[in-house]
Amino acid sequence: MKLTIALLSGDGVGPEVTHQAVKCLKMVGEVFGHKFLFKEGLVGAIAIEKTGEPLPTKTIELCKNSDAILFGTVRDPKNNQNLDGKIKPENGLLQLRRELSLFSNIRPVKVFPSLVDKSPLRKSVIRGTDFVVYRELIGGIYHGEKSTNKEGTVAKDVCTYSEAEISRIAHLAFKAAKNRRKKVTLVDKANGLETSRLWRKVVRKISDSYPEIQLQNLFIEEAVMQMILNPRQFDIILTSNMFGDILSDEGGVIGGSVGLLPSASVGDSHALFEPIHEVFLEKKGTNMANPVASILSAAMILDHFHLDEESRAVVIAVLNAMKKGIVTPDLQPNSTYGTNEVGDYIANTITDSEENLTFSRENIWLGKSTII
Ligand code: IPM
Ligand code: MN
Repeated sequence: MKLTIALLSGDGVGPEVTHQAVKCLKMVGEVFGHKFLFKEGLVGAIAIEKTGEPLPTKTIELCKNSDAILFGTVRDPKNNQNLDGKIKPENGLLQLRRELSLFSNIRPVKVFPSLVDKSPLRKSVIRGTDFVVYRELIGGIYHGEKSTNKEGTVAKDVCTYSEAEISRIAHLAFKAAKNRRKKVTLVDKANGLETSRLWRKVVRKISDSYPEIQLQNLFIEEAVMQMILNPRQFDIILTSNMFGDILSDEGGVIGGSVGLLPSASVGDSHALFEPIHEVFLEKKGTNMANPVASILSAAMILDHFHLDEESRAVVIAVLNAMKKGIVTPDLQPNSTYGTNEVGDYIANTITDSEENLTFSRENIWLGKSTII
């Protein structure tokens, strides 16, 4: 297969971690005989510095003409905490999601078997956690009308959702549940918000056409609590833009590090892949960032193009690195392995061995081959 991948590595540790993902994809190309062509584009603070805009037209064109986008992270490196600027690096990402109509953000949360000790939660609570957050990505409070009064004393962000916006992601969530444990949890704030009540109404109606799927409703405050008390109960979490942002970071902590979780943002004709973590500015250039989220995002690119065996080979290489303790300091404070070493190890152990073929998707994570 031949794929053109737009590489938008952005700011902070973005370039370091995406570099490891590219290494892995190049290795997949070599081992499995595919051609992946990477084309770099500017986004975020670096794009503002070079062009005055967080998302130059050239980058949008590049993304539209590519098969997939591998994204890093964005944030102003000089002004980490000042989010007041008129031109915001983050807008590069938010605008790109809208330009490409990437309405569905898919964030799988799994606990790595060899990392159960790294979680702040008890092993017995987190072992076997495996759920996916389906976060609506281009509507809601993020993208509604925004304003601040002249005096700077009153501000507003309008939250709007339409039936069409809710229903297109809801269908994806129900379809995904069909191939999993057949449960969808809709997370909202229907006791306080009109938009949440619309989500409930639309999702309930859609659930009638998926009779085999169990639909559960949870308010956001119950959901954050249940995720800590019993994360195994979740299969697919369906939710709006902001609640999904919050829940997915919480999901990262369950597994021991937010540096482990990948995501796919998918629309009808484009797809972007990025770690869920942020820029980690204080570690930029120190070879300390965890490249796993970006590498697993690369595995999600392979999934997206139905390169199942290839994706599995990447995931197995990641799991092997963890089993051997080849992890960055966020997981093992005195680790001597940095971003590069972990990336090299994973890339160099990607194989198309017979043994890999004996792993089914579920058994990979359990470390059991299907034929035993
Ligand atoms: C994410 C990020 C973004 C978001 C920021 C950078 C705007 O936190 O992808 O989760 O909130 O969507
Ligand atoms: Mn986030």
